[in-house]
Amino acid sequence: MSNCIAIDGPAASGKSTIARRVAEKLNIAYINTGSLYRAVALAAIRAGRDLSSLDRSFLDTLKLEYAENESGAYELKLNGAFPGAALRTAEVAAGASLVATQPVVRDFLLGVQRGFAGERMVVMEGRDIGTVIFPDAAVKIFLTASPEERARRRLAQDGESPDGATLAEVAREIAARDKQDSERAVAPLKPAPDAILVDTTGFSLDKAVETIIGLTARKLQESGICIMK
Ligand code: DC
Repeated sequence: MSNCIAIDGPAASGKSTIARRVAEKLNIAYINTGSLYRAVALAAIRAGRDLSSLDRSFLDTLKLEYAENESGAYELKLNGAFPGAALRTAEVAAGASLVATQPVVRDFLLGVQRGFAGERMVVMEGRDIGTVIFPDAAVKIFLTASPEERARRRLAQDGESPDGATLAEVAREIAARDKQDSERAVAPLKPAPDAILVDTTGFSLDKAVETIIGLTARKLQESGICIMK
């Protein structure tokens, strides 16, 4: 069994915020795997590459690691620097969805992601953590929320949507990403057969975090794993 609490789900389902809070409460590391796809897209944009056909030799030049930022939190570094807000622009989000359809990119990041879980339990959040990266994860959660609620959440996130974007436009952009993420041939977005499905529509953040912590605690207890304080 892998030392991984896998939290998967579609765009703007609240995964990142919830996964970060769960990791804080359990005092374990948190890895946002969407940042890895975003970092690949950002690096390719910066290098003037064609995002629709990346090759392994380019990917092998990328250095992706987690390091402590100024506030002491672990954050992704790309080629020695924290990309920060550059990862969260609409251009990079669309680029990430495109590069994520390419087997060469997924294969490259599979190795990177597996390298992050080891002796200690980690919370890893993404689209295929419970299905492909760690099919034997200790806990698998699949988060959803209605498209309208996800569009509202996305609109409330700084820098994620173009200035002046309307709810309808954001909902359309989310629907397009859902379609691309769930219909791609490799590692499509779908719950693992043994994942626990949680619909957070109408949940406050606190309620969502409490629910996931409760489910995680139960699952770990059932498996005889003790990490709770
Ligand atoms: O979670 P996010 O919006 O930061 O993810 C960016 C893109 O990366 C998204 O379109 C889907 C893709 N992705 C993926 O295919 N597999 C993952 N484990 C994480 C993200």
